[in-house]
Amino acid sequence: MSGQRSRQWYAGDDRNAYIHRAWMRRGLPDHAFDGRPHIAIANTASALTPCNAHLGEVARSVENGVWEAGGVPLELPVVSLGETQVRPTAMLWRNMAAMAAEEMFRANPIDGVVLLGGCDKTIPALLMAAASVDLPAVVVPGGPMLTGHFQGRPLGCGTDVWRLSEEVRAGTLSEQDFTASEASMIRSKGHCNTMGTASTMALMAETLGMTLPGIAGTPAPDSRLLALSHATGRLIVDMVAADRRPSTVLTRGSFHNAIVALAALGGSTNAVVHLLAIAGRLAADIGLTLDDFDRIGSGVPLLVDLQPAGRHLMDDLYRAGGLLAVLREVRDLLDPAARTVAGTPLVDHLDGARTWDEDVIRPRTKPLQEDAGIAVLRGNLAPDGAVIKPAAASPGLLRHRGRAVVFDSVEDARVRINDPALDVDESSVLVLRGCGPRGYPGMPEVANLPLPPKLLRRGVRDMVRVCDGRMSGTAYGTVILHVAPEAAAGGPLGLVRTGDPIVLDVPARRLDIDLPADELAARAPAPAAAAAFASPARGWERLYVDHVLGADTGADLDFLRGAGGHAVPRDSH
Ligand code: FES
Repeated sequence: MSGQRSRQWYAGDDRNAYIHRAWMRRGLPDHAFDGRPHIAIANTASALTPCNAHLGEVARSVENGVWEAGGVPLELPVVSLGETQVRPTAMLWRNMAAMAAEEMFRANPIDGVVLLGGCDKTIPALLMAAASVDLPAVVVPGGPMLTGHFQGRPLGCGTDVWRLSEEVRAGTLSEQDFTASEASMIRSKGHCNTMGTASTMALMAETLGMTLPGIAGTPAPDSRLLALSHATGRLIVDMVAADRRPSTVLTRGSFHNAIVALAALGGSTNAVVHLLAIAGRLAADIGLTLDDFDRIGSGVPLLVDLQPAGRHLMDDLYRAGGLLAVLREVRDLLDPAARTVAGTPLVDHLDGARTWDEDVIRPRTKPLQEDAGIAVLRGNLAPDGAVIKPAAASPGLLRHRGRAVVFDSVEDARVRINDPALDVDESSVLVLRGCGPRGYPGMPEVANLPLPPKLLRRGVRDMVRVCDGRMSGTAYGTVILHVAPEAAAGGPLGLVRTGDPIVLDVPARRLDIDLPADELAARAPAPAAAAAFASPARGWERLYVDHVLGADTGADLDFLRGAGGHAVPRDSH
């Protein structure tokens, strides 16, 4: 369909074509309108999304590749979300960013799109939009930052902020040293360098087949990123000619591969929500469910020793052979039919991959853990499911019975967790509710509640925590997340009272309140919890609260599920 869609704007001698061409003549040559494909470069660069601030340079390389291959590159700034900057939580606008991008892809005279993302929500939002519009699309991940050091030790951005702040709370690190570490945390351009959400989703984009094979994980300052961006510009022109669209790449097999990779990499739990949301945007129902993450991921070994669960950082993973070396180790678990945007099966790109450092990428015969998948729990506390990342949890807590200590909101937890009089011990189960997609709103990354200082001082470093919110991909602990239905949607999490016995059994995939069913059924939701649920009056938040779906299906808006296609909109000139 080379250039055919854009031709519907530019071809012909009528007044509409005149207007469309004339207003685009700001340096474009005549031959820009001769039928060659017009390629949008959807750019999430923003000074307020510092992890993506360098994407202008990446866009220039993509543009060069598009021109060289005979296309016309057109940069399209799209909604950007800086994970650390926007309040209350970037997740509140992932769907808005996806919706805005989808609408602009459809509304504009383009034949294909290159998606430039990096910081946590940007690649998921762009992939959701691309899946719904189904124009030829390819991701360029902006890449992780280089590793910073403090007092001779490497710093994992995100993960070490949690660790160092816990050390301050425990009294083992001075406030001055904590503050001094700040200048070393972010060494270069690029996104967080742990196996957090940004790294995970870049690697998921490649495993799904939506990038040039071999690009994900290339550090942002590495000159090879620009060379691969140039190659991506050439590729998208080929993709338009071949009419290679997301619907031909994003198949059940490609999501199968993503789930295998997620486990082998020890990727972020946030990928569960994002992958479900992306799959939900396809025209075809590929039947991806929450349970697939456990069923496919179970038994997949953890091969990558990266923070937050392990020791190394993204720069090390790249040096050690990168994603393709990891996938080579689990090749037998991958779907050999799943194709990439390059037109070839993903597994065909694994032949040349090598592991250069087995301390970072373990061989299959020496995994860090035998079973690294994300466990999906069910029970009377999570009828629609909840997730835990056992690789980031304390093995001794994976089977646990403890007394609930309930917090009705993030604010409630902030006030009471530090109270020396809080009735809590290391066997307690900290329950935080009102943090789901609808309740907060936006499903913030608060599930890894800080531990009570009095327990920290006694050396306690982990406790079982249960929440309907998310956890930062850079965090760790025995944390049960994404409890569904959330409390604000009437889930049983809203019925728990302090003192209730909570039973966690990860091997059995259970999460229960050990109370008779009739006693639970007779309870009304806690009034204090209900009072804390969000009730926005206007704007995006109102729309979001009225339409957001549960975490178990990806927390998309109900009216955004499925595809809208790329049919050319009617003209008004
Ligand atoms: Fe942007 Fe971590 S804050 S990737």
